Amino acid sequence: MVLETVPLGQTGLSVSELALGTWRFGRENDAGEVEIEEDRAHELLDAFADRGGTFIDTANSYGDGRAEEWIGEWLADRDRDEYVVASKIYWPTRSNDPNASGLNRKHLRGQIDCILDRLETSYLDLLYVHRWDDATPAAEYMRTLNGFVEDGRVNYLGTSTETPNAWKVVKANELARQNGYEPFSVAQPRYNLLDREIEARYLPMCRDYSLGIVPWSPLAGGFLTGKYGRDETAPSTSRAATDQSFADRYFCDEHFEVLDHVKMIALEVGATPAQVSLAWLLHQDAVTAPIVGARTVDQLEENVEATAVTLTAAQRTELREGTA
Ligand SMILES: NC(=O)c1ccc[n+]([C@@H]2O[C@H](COP(=O)([O-])OP(=O)(O)OC[C@H]3O[C@@H](n4cnc5c(N)ncnc54)[C@H](OP(=O)(O)O)[C@@H]3O)[C@@H](O)[C@H]2O)c1
Repeated sequence: MVLETVPLGQTGLSVSELALGTWRFGRENDAGEVEIEEDRAHELLDAFADRGGTFIDTANSYGDGRAEEWIGEWLADRDRDEYVVASKIYWPTRSNDPNASGLNRKHLRGQIDCILDRLETSYLDLLYVHRWDDATPAAEYMRTLNGFVEDGRVNYLGTSTETPNAWKVVKANELARQNGYEPFSVAQPRYNLLDREIEARYLPMCRDYSLGIVPWSPLAGGFLTGKYGRDETAPSTSRAATDQSFADRYFCDEHFEVLDHVKMIALEVGATPAQVSLAWLLHQDAVTAPIVGARTVDQLEENVEATAVTLTAAQRTELREGTA
């Protein structure tokens, strides 16, 4: 199975139909264990690239910079230009320093250089604002971000997560248009069968601007793989066992009912629940490339196979509406 390449919104860039997420690279979980160590991170990157994966998603905050460092070491042995590397800026990079977080010019300028150093590259393909910063005027960060595109350190801009506030993207992109700045061309919202708030306002906005849509947590952090039961038992290495916020978010009757439909359709099409859940996202015409967050190579292989799963219109409706 080799991943196909798809256009990233209306940019001229092409990316693999799945992106590899690196949020858990070098990250300490609630139990104080590093979830994905360096060797495993490199195995995952190798496995992804071997299957045609080109689109790598990271952030300056992942593993306090370790994710970018490990990607940089891995890229140093490859042809960097063959990969589309996306990173993000927003979260604090120093404690007790109001200028070391958000999208103010000082923080953005300092962080873009740190990101490029850690990734051992002279340019980022895509830079996202990781969250919105209401304390900094949009004109300030849009102009600063435009400067990164003008000087070649960044190729495209993206916006992450601010899903209830589609108007903020509209405001920033209209400001960019009026001033001749680079606009946001890509959106990275949380989107999966359980987290669908983007469908009301955010998705129509993305469609109108022809933004590339790169959903995060496409498997609801693993809930949609079907590995959790209603009794809340969780495999000891799984996210639910080591990340309380995950369990708090997903363990409820309504979500288990959606999962029941996913499991039934998985039996019908001869796939796993994870593959059906990913296939549902891949069938959405507005979606460009879900970011899979596999922790092991086996998980990644299973997820890549989802690109070969076809769902009928009736099955997609059943998944969307929760009724057969
Ligand atoms: N922009 C943002 O604010 C933002 C926020 C979050 C994430 N992201 C990006 O999105 C990426 C993906 O997010 P995510 O990790 O939440 O995605 P996800 O794909 O929904 O969840 C990944 C987790 O599910 C489990 N899993 C995945 N495939 C599996 C399989 N086939 N079988 C069994 N378990 C499986 C693994 O957890 P366990 O094995 O540990 O249970 C894995 O760590 C991140 O790495 C990051 O790049 C962005």
